[in-house]
Amino acid sequence: MQKTGCPYGTHRVISPSGVLPQPAWKIDNTMRPYDNEILLDVERLNIDSASFTEIKKRANYDESVICTIILQLVKERGKHHNPNTGSGGMFIGSVREIGEKLSGKIDLKPGDRIASLVSLSLTPLCIEEILEVYIDIDQVAVRGQAILFESGIYAKLPPDMPEALALAVLDVAGAPAQTAKLVRPGDRVLVIGGGGKSGLLCLHEAKKRAGVTGQVISLNPSAAACQRVRDLELADTVIQADAQNALEVMQAVSLATAGELCDLVINCVNVPNTEMSSILATRNLGTVYFFSMATSFTAAALGAEGVGKDITMLIGNGYTTDHAAIALNTMRENPQLRELFTATYAS
Ligand SMILES: NC(=O)c1ccc[n+]([C@@H]2O[C@H](COP(=O)([O-])OP(=O)(O)OC[C@H]3O[C@@H](n4cnc5c(N)ncnc54)[C@H](OP(=O)(O)O)[C@@H]3O)[C@@H](O)[C@H]2O)c1
Repeated sequence: MQKTGCPYGTHRVISPSGVLPQPAWKIDNTMRPYDNEILLDVERLNIDSASFTEIKKRANYDESVICTIILQLVKERGKHHNPNTGSGGMFIGSVREIGEKLSGKIDLKPGDRIASLVSLSLTPLCIEEILEVYIDIDQVAVRGQAILFESGIYAKLPPDMPEALALAVLDVAGAPAQTAKLVRPGDRVLVIGGGGKSGLLCLHEAKKRAGVTGQVISLNPSAAACQRVRDLELADTVIQADAQNALEVMQAVSLATAGELCDLVINCVNVPNTEMSSILATRNLGTVYFFSMATSFTAAALGAEGVGKDITMLIGNGYTTDHAAIALNTMRENPQLRELFTATYAS
Protein backbone atom coordinates (compact mmCIF):
# COMPACT_ATOMS: atom_id res chain seq x y z
CA MET A 1 0.00 0.00 0.00
CA GLN A 2 1.55 3.29 -1.06
CA LYS A 3 1.36 6.47 0.99
CA THR A 4 -1.06 9.19 -0.12
CA GLY A 5 0.59 12.31 -1.51
CA CYS A 6 -0.49 15.89 -2.09
CA PRO A 7 -0.91 16.78 -5.80
CA TYR A 8 1.67 19.59 -5.42
CA GLY A 9 4.22 17.45 -3.59
CA THR A 10 4.02 19.22 -0.22
CA HIS A 11 4.36 15.79 1.47
CA ARG A 12 8.01 15.83 0.30
CA VAL A 13 8.94 19.16 1.93
CA ILE A 14 11.44 18.79 4.78
CA SER A 15 12.30 22.40 5.52
CA PRO A 16 10.97 24.95 6.10
CA SER A 17 7.65 23.34 6.89
CA GLY A 18 4.47 24.68 5.33
CA VAL A 19 5.92 25.72 1.97
CA LEU A 20 5.64 24.20 -1.50
CA PRO A 21 8.53 22.11 -2.93
CA GLN A 22 9.93 24.91 -5.14
CA PRO A 23 10.58 27.50 -2.42
CA ALA A 24 11.56 24.74 0.07
CA TRP A 25 15.21 24.58 1.04
CA LYS A 26 15.22 20.80 1.34
CA ILE A 27 12.87 18.13 0.02
CA ASP A 28 12.71 14.38 0.58
CA ASN A 29 14.35 12.59 -2.36
CA THR A 30 13.64 9.04 -1.22
CA MET A 31 12.97 7.18 -4.44
CA ARG A 32 9.87 5.31 -3.26
CA PRO A 33 6.78 6.75 -5.00
CA TYR A 34 3.66 7.88 -3.15
CA ASP A 35 0.32 6.81 -4.66
CA ASN A 36 0.11 9.89 -6.92
CA GLU A 37 3.76 10.10 -8.04
CA ILE A 38 5.73 8.85 -11.02
CA LEU A 39 9.19 7.36 -10.48
CA LEU A 40 11.62 7.78 -13.36
CA ASP A 41 15.11 6.64 -14.30
CA VAL A 42 16.96 9.79 -15.27
CA GLU A 43 19.58 9.89 -18.02
CA ARG A 44 20.26 13.51 -18.75
CA LEU A 45 19.80 16.85 -17.05
CA ASN A 46 19.50 20.11 -18.92
CA ILE A 47 20.65 22.65 -16.37
CA ASP A 48 19.04 26.08 -16.69
CA SER A 49 21.43 28.39 -18.57
CA ALA A 50 21.60 31.09 -15.86
CA SER A 51 22.34 28.39 -13.26
CA PHE A 52 24.88 26.47 -15.37
CA THR A 53 26.68 29.71 -16.29
CA GLU A 54 26.95 30.54 -12.57
CA ILE A 55 28.14 27.00 -11.67
CA LYS A 56 30.70 26.97 -14.52
CA LYS A 57 32.15 30.31 -13.37
CA ARG A 58 32.25 29.14 -9.74
CA ALA A 59 34.04 25.94 -10.85
CA ASN A 60 36.48 27.92 -13.00
CA TYR A 61 35.26 25.76 -15.94
CA ASP A 62 36.78 22.62 -14.37
CA GLU A 63 34.48 19.66 -15.16
CA SER A 64 35.37 17.70 -12.04
CA VAL A 65 34.54 20.72 -9.86
CA ILE A 66 31.24 21.16 -11.77
CA CYS A 67 30.40 17.51 -10.94
CA THR A 68 31.23 18.07 -7.27
CA ILE A 69 29.05 21.20 -7.10
CA ILE A 70 26.07 19.44 -8.73
CA LEU A 71 26.36 16.30 -6.57
CA GLN A 72 26.75 18.35 -3.40
CA LEU A 73 23.78 20.57 -4.30
CA VAL A 74 21.46 17.63 -4.91
CA LYS A 75 22.65 15.84 -1.76
CA GLU A 76 22.04 18.96 0.33
CA ARG A 77 18.64 19.96 -1.06
CA GLY A 78 17.17 16.74 -2.51
CA LYS A 79 16.72 18.64 -5.81
CA HIS A 80 18.87 20.54 -8.32
CA HIS A 81 18.03 24.04 -7.13
CA ASN A 82 20.90 26.49 -7.43
CA PRO A 83 20.54 28.92 -4.49
CA ASN A 84 22.55 31.59 -6.32
CA THR A 85 20.17 31.85 -9.29
CA GLY A 86 17.03 30.26 -7.82
CA SER A 87 16.65 28.16 -10.98
CA GLY A 88 16.90 24.46 -11.91
CA GLY A 89 16.45 22.95 -15.37
CA MET A 90 14.72 19.75 -16.55
CA PHE A 91 15.50 16.12 -17.35
CA ILE A 92 14.87 13.27 -19.73
CA GLY A 93 14.37 9.71 -18.62
CA SER A 94 12.04 6.73 -18.70
CA VAL A 95 9.09 5.80 -16.54
CA ARG A 96 9.93 3.08 -13.99
CA GLU A 97 6.82 3.03 -11.79
CA ILE A 98 3.48 4.85 -11.64
CA GLY A 99 1.72 5.36 -8.31
CA GLU A 100 -1.45 3.27 -7.86
CA LYS A 101 -3.75 6.31 -7.83
CA LEU A 102 -2.43 7.49 -11.21
CA SER A 103 -1.95 4.14 -12.90
CA GLY A 104 -4.29 3.74 -15.88
CA LYS A 105 -5.49 7.35 -15.53
CA ILE A 106 -2.62 9.07 -17.33
CA ASP A 107 -1.17 8.57 -20.80
CA LEU A 108 2.04 6.96 -19.47
CA LYS A 109 3.17 3.40 -18.88
CA PRO A 110 6.44 1.98 -17.57
CA GLY A 111 9.19 2.28 -20.18
CA ASP A 112 7.80 5.46 -21.82
CA ARG A 113 10.43 8.09 -22.51
CA ILE A 114 9.63 11.62 -21.41
CA ALA A 115 11.06 15.06 -20.75
CA SER A 116 10.00 16.75 -17.53
CA LEU A 117 8.42 20.14 -18.06
CA VAL A 118 8.51 21.25 -14.45
CA SER A 119 11.66 22.74 -13.00
CA LEU A 120 14.39 20.65 -11.38
CA SER A 121 14.18 23.27 -8.63
CA LEU A 122 11.11 21.40 -7.27
CA THR A 123 11.79 17.86 -8.52
CA PRO A 124 12.97 15.18 -6.04
CA LEU A 125 16.21 13.93 -7.58
CA CYS A 126 18.85 11.39 -6.68
CA ILE A 127 22.09 11.22 -8.67
CA GLU A 128 24.12 8.02 -8.33
CA GLU A 129 26.77 9.05 -10.82
CA ILE A 130 27.57 11.83 -13.26
CA LEU A 131 28.69 10.15 -16.48
CA GLU A 132 29.58 13.19 -18.57
CA VAL A 133 29.41 16.98 -18.47
CA TYR A 134 28.54 18.64 -21.79
CA ILE A 135 29.97 21.98 -20.77
CA ASP A 136 29.03 23.92 -23.92
CA ILE A 137 25.35 22.93 -24.02
CA ASP A 138 24.36 23.02 -20.31
CA GLN A 139 23.66 19.26 -20.24
CA VAL A 140 24.88 16.52 -17.91
CA ALA A 141 24.56 12.74 -18.47
CA VAL A 142 23.73 10.99 -15.20
CA ARG A 143 22.64 7.72 -13.67
CA GLY A 144 19.87 8.61 -11.26
CA GLN A 145 16.19 8.75 -10.46
CA ALA A 146 13.55 11.43 -10.06
CA ILE A 147 9.95 11.81 -8.95
CA LEU A 148 7.21 13.71 -10.77
CA PHE A 149 4.28 14.94 -8.69
CA GLU A 150 0.66 14.55 -9.78
CA SER A 151 0.64 18.21 -10.86
CA GLY A 152 3.96 17.87 -12.70
CA ILE A 153 3.82 18.30 -16.46
CA TYR A 154 5.87 16.30 -18.95
CA ALA A 155 6.15 15.68 -22.69
CA LYS A 156 6.59 12.32 -24.39
CA LEU A 157 9.77 12.52 -26.44
CA PRO A 158 8.90 12.93 -30.13
CA PRO A 159 9.92 10.08 -32.45
CA ASP A 160 11.14 12.38 -35.23
CA MET A 161 14.12 14.03 -33.53
CA PRO A 162 17.13 13.04 -31.39
CA GLU A 163 16.39 13.13 -27.65
CA ALA A 164 19.20 15.57 -26.86
CA LEU A 165 17.70 17.96 -29.44
CA ALA A 166 14.21 17.63 -27.97
CA LEU A 167 15.62 18.18 -24.47
CA ALA A 168 17.39 21.38 -25.56
CA VAL A 169 14.23 22.74 -27.21
CA LEU A 170 11.86 21.71 -24.41
CA ASP A 171 14.12 23.37 -21.81
CA VAL A 172 13.07 26.77 -23.18
CA ALA A 173 9.65 25.79 -24.59
CA GLY A 174 7.83 28.63 -22.81
CA ALA A 175 9.76 31.31 -24.71
CA PRO A 176 8.71 30.62 -28.33
CA ALA A 177 5.18 29.70 -27.21
CA GLN A 178 4.73 32.99 -25.32
CA THR A 179 6.22 34.82 -28.32
CA ALA A 180 3.64 33.17 -30.56
CA LYS A 181 0.89 34.50 -28.28
CA LEU A 182 2.27 38.01 -27.85
CA VAL A 183 3.35 39.08 -31.35
CA ARG A 184 0.76 40.69 -33.62
CA PRO A 185 1.11 41.40 -37.34
CA GLY A 186 3.07 44.62 -37.90
CA ASP A 187 4.75 44.58 -34.46
CA ARG A 188 8.29 45.79 -33.85
CA VAL A 189 9.90 43.09 -31.74
CA LEU A 190 13.32 43.11 -30.09
CA VAL A 191 14.84 39.84 -28.85
CA ILE A 192 17.71 40.53 -26.45
CA GLY A 193 20.01 37.51 -26.56
CA GLY A 194 18.45 36.60 -29.93
CA GLY A 195 21.43 34.44 -30.93
CA GLY A 196 21.09 32.08 -27.92
CA LYS A 197 18.94 28.95 -27.63
CA SER A 198 15.65 30.49 -26.51
CA GLY A 199 16.40 33.68 -28.46
CA LEU A 200 16.60 31.89 -31.82
CA LEU A 201 13.31 30.07 -31.21
CA CYS A 202 11.68 33.40 -30.26
CA LEU A 203 13.06 35.07 -33.39
CA HIS A 204 11.57 32.28 -35.52
CA GLU A 205 8.12 32.77 -33.97
CA ALA A 206 8.36 36.57 -34.00
CA LYS A 207 9.31 36.65 -37.69
CA LYS A 208 6.42 34.35 -38.54
CA ARG A 209 3.87 36.34 -36.52
CA ALA A 210 5.01 39.94 -37.17
CA GLY A 211 4.89 39.29 -40.92
CA VAL A 212 6.15 41.50 -43.72
CA THR A 213 4.85 44.69 -42.12
CA GLY A 214 6.64 44.03 -38.83
CA GLN A 215 10.26 44.48 -37.82
CA VAL A 216 12.19 41.86 -35.89
CA ILE A 217 15.41 42.95 -34.22
CA SER A 218 18.03 40.72 -32.59
CA LEU A 219 20.62 42.00 -30.12
CA ASN A 220 23.74 40.21 -28.83
CA PRO A 221 27.16 41.30 -27.58
CA SER A 222 29.18 38.72 -29.56
CA ALA A 223 29.89 38.93 -33.28
CA ALA A 224 29.41 35.14 -33.52
CA ALA A 225 25.84 35.28 -32.19
CA CYS A 226 25.00 38.19 -34.52
CA GLN A 227 26.38 36.28 -37.50
CA ARG A 228 24.36 33.18 -36.50
CA VAL A 229 21.16 35.23 -36.67
CA ARG A 230 22.14 36.80 -40.02
CA ASP A 231 22.95 33.39 -41.52
CA LEU A 232 19.55 32.06 -40.48
CA GLU A 233 17.81 35.21 -41.76
CA LEU A 234 15.77 35.32 -38.56
CA ALA A 235 15.88 39.11 -38.02
CA ASP A 236 15.34 42.21 -40.15
CA THR A 237 17.91 44.10 -38.06
CA VAL A 238 20.87 42.71 -36.12
CA ILE A 239 22.43 44.86 -33.40
CA GLN A 240 25.75 44.06 -31.75
CA ALA A 241 25.59 45.58 -28.27
CA ASP A 242 25.84 44.76 -24.58
CA ALA A 243 22.46 44.76 -22.81
CA GLN A 244 24.16 45.64 -19.54
CA ASN A 245 24.70 49.07 -21.16
CA ALA A 246 21.13 50.39 -21.24
CA LEU A 247 21.83 53.74 -22.90
CA GLU A 248 23.82 52.15 -25.73
CA VAL A 249 20.95 49.72 -26.34
CA MET A 250 18.29 52.45 -26.28
CA GLN A 251 20.23 54.53 -28.82
CA ALA A 252 20.82 51.57 -31.13
CA VAL A 253 17.17 50.47 -31.00
CA SER A 254 15.93 54.03 -31.47
CA LEU A 255 18.13 54.35 -34.55
CA ALA A 256 16.92 51.01 -35.94
CA THR A 257 13.24 51.93 -35.46
CA ALA A 258 13.33 55.59 -36.56
CA GLY A 259 12.73 56.65 -32.95
CA GLU A 260 9.59 54.50 -32.49
CA LEU A 261 11.16 51.88 -30.15
CA CYS A 262 9.59 48.40 -29.84
CA ASP A 263 6.06 47.16 -29.21
CA LEU A 264 7.47 44.03 -27.59
CA VAL A 265 10.88 43.28 -26.07
CA ILE A 266 11.76 39.69 -25.21
CA ASN A 267 14.67 39.26 -22.80
CA CYS A 268 16.49 35.92 -23.33
CA VAL A 269 19.87 36.64 -21.73
CA ASN A 270 21.67 34.55 -19.14
CA VAL A 271 23.38 37.37 -17.22
CA PRO A 272 22.04 39.90 -14.68
CA ASN A 273 21.55 43.70 -15.03
CA THR A 274 19.76 43.85 -18.37
CA GLU A 275 16.35 45.04 -17.09
CA MET A 276 16.90 48.71 -18.02
CA SER A 277 17.90 47.89 -21.61
CA SER A 278 14.65 46.00 -22.03
CA ILE A 279 12.60 48.83 -20.50
CA LEU A 280 14.27 51.67 -22.43
CA ALA A 281 13.94 49.82 -25.75
CA THR A 282 10.15 49.48 -25.26
CA ARG A 283 7.72 52.14 -26.50
CA ASN A 284 5.27 53.66 -24.03
CA LEU A 285 2.39 51.17 -23.42
CA GLY A 286 4.48 48.40 -24.96
CA THR A 287 5.36 45.05 -23.35
CA VAL A 288 8.50 43.43 -21.99
CA TYR A 289 8.59 39.67 -21.59
CA PHE A 290 11.39 38.73 -19.16
CA PHE A 291 12.12 35.08 -19.99
CA SER A 292 15.59 35.38 -18.43
CA MET A 293 16.03 33.78 -15.04
CA ALA A 294 18.64 36.41 -14.24
CA THR A 295 15.89 39.06 -14.10
CA SER A 296 15.43 41.05 -10.90
CA PHE A 297 11.80 41.89 -10.18
CA THR A 298 12.92 44.86 -8.07
CA ALA A 299 15.25 46.23 -10.74
CA ALA A 300 12.52 45.94 -13.39
CA ALA A 301 9.71 47.43 -11.29
CA LEU A 302 11.69 50.31 -9.82
CA GLY A 303 13.58 50.87 -13.06
CA ALA A 304 10.42 51.31 -15.15
CA GLU A 305 8.96 53.64 -12.54
CA GLY A 306 12.20 55.61 -12.40
CA VAL A 307 12.12 56.43 -16.10
CA GLY A 308 8.34 57.00 -16.18
CA LYS A 309 7.55 54.17 -18.60
CA ASP A 310 3.95 52.92 -18.62
CA ILE A 311 4.65 49.43 -19.91
CA THR A 312 3.42 45.91 -19.21
CA MET A 313 6.10 43.61 -17.82
CA LEU A 314 5.58 39.86 -17.90
CA ILE A 315 7.43 37.40 -15.69
CA GLY A 316 8.72 34.55 -17.84
CA ASN A 317 6.27 31.82 -16.89
CA GLY A 318 7.97 28.71 -18.28
CA TYR A 319 4.56 27.25 -19.04
CA THR A 320 1.86 28.27 -21.45
CA THR A 321 -0.75 26.03 -23.06
CA ASP A 322 0.73 23.77 -25.77
CA HIS A 323 4.22 25.15 -25.20
CA ALA A 324 5.95 21.82 -25.87
CA ALA A 325 4.13 21.29 -29.17
CA ILE A 326 4.79 24.87 -30.33
CA ALA A 327 8.49 24.73 -29.40
CA LEU A 328 9.14 21.32 -30.99
CA ASN A 329 7.33 22.45 -34.13
CA THR A 330 9.87 25.22 -34.72
CA MET A 331 12.32 22.41 -35.52
CA ARG A 332 9.97 21.00 -38.16
CA GLU A 333 9.15 24.39 -39.66
CA ASN A 334 12.68 25.69 -39.99
CA PRO A 335 15.21 23.17 -41.41
CA GLN A 336 18.16 25.61 -41.11
CA LEU A 337 17.39 26.25 -37.45
CA ARG A 338 17.04 22.51 -36.86
CA GLU A 339 20.40 21.90 -38.55
CA LEU A 340 22.08 24.43 -36.25
CA PHE A 341 20.36 23.04 -33.13
CA THR A 342 21.22 19.46 -34.13
CA ALA A 343 24.89 20.38 -34.66
CA THR A 344 24.99 22.28 -31.37
CA TYR A 345 22.95 20.08 -29.04
CA ALA A 346 22.67 16.62 -30.56
CA SER A 347 25.89 15.70 -32.34
N1 LIG B 1 11.41 31.35 -17.74
C1 LIG B 1 11.71 30.07 -17.85
O1 LIG B 1 10.92 29.20 -17.60
C2 LIG B 1 13.07 29.69 -18.32
C3 LIG B 1 13.32 28.37 -18.74
C4 LIG B 1 14.61 28.06 -19.22
C5 LIG B 1 15.57 29.05 -19.29
N2 LIG B 1 15.30 30.31 -18.85
C6 LIG B 1 16.29 31.41 -18.87
O2 LIG B 1 16.33 31.97 -20.17
C7 LIG B 1 17.60 32.60 -20.38
C8 LIG B 1 18.19 32.17 -21.71
O3 LIG B 1 18.40 30.76 -21.75
P1 LIG B 1 19.07 30.09 -23.05
O4 LIG B 1 19.12 28.63 -22.79
O5 LIG B 1 18.43 30.61 -24.26
O6 LIG B 1 20.53 30.73 -22.91
P2 LIG B 1 21.75 30.76 -23.95
O7 LIG B 1 21.52 29.82 -25.10
O8 LIG B 1 22.96 30.56 -23.11
O9 LIG B 1 21.70 32.23 -24.53
C9 LIG B 1 21.99 33.34 -23.74
C10 LIG B 1 22.05 34.54 -24.64
O10 LIG B 1 22.28 35.69 -23.82
C11 LIG B 1 23.14 36.54 -24.56
N3 LIG B 1 23.83 37.48 -23.69
C12 LIG B 1 24.74 37.21 -22.73
N4 LIG B 1 25.18 38.36 -22.17
C13 LIG B 1 24.52 39.37 -22.81
C14 LIG B 1 24.55 40.78 -22.72
N5 LIG B 1 25.32 41.40 -21.82
N6 LIG B 1 23.77 41.50 -23.57
C15 LIG B 1 22.95 40.90 -24.46
N7 LIG B 1 22.88 39.55 -24.60
C16 LIG B 1 23.67 38.80 -23.78
C17 LIG B 1 24.12 35.58 -25.21
O11 LIG B 1 24.76 36.27 -26.29
P3 LIG B 1 26.32 36.03 -26.69
O12 LIG B 1 26.40 34.61 -27.16
O13 LIG B 1 26.57 37.05 -27.71
O14 LIG B 1 27.10 36.25 -25.41
C18 LIG B 1 23.18 34.49 -25.67
O15 LIG B 1 22.62 34.81 -26.93
C19 LIG B 1 18.45 32.21 -19.17
O16 LIG B 1 18.43 33.26 -18.24
C20 LIG B 1 17.71 31.01 -18.62
O17 LIG B 1 17.99 30.87 -17.26
C21 LIG B 1 14.05 30.64 -18.40
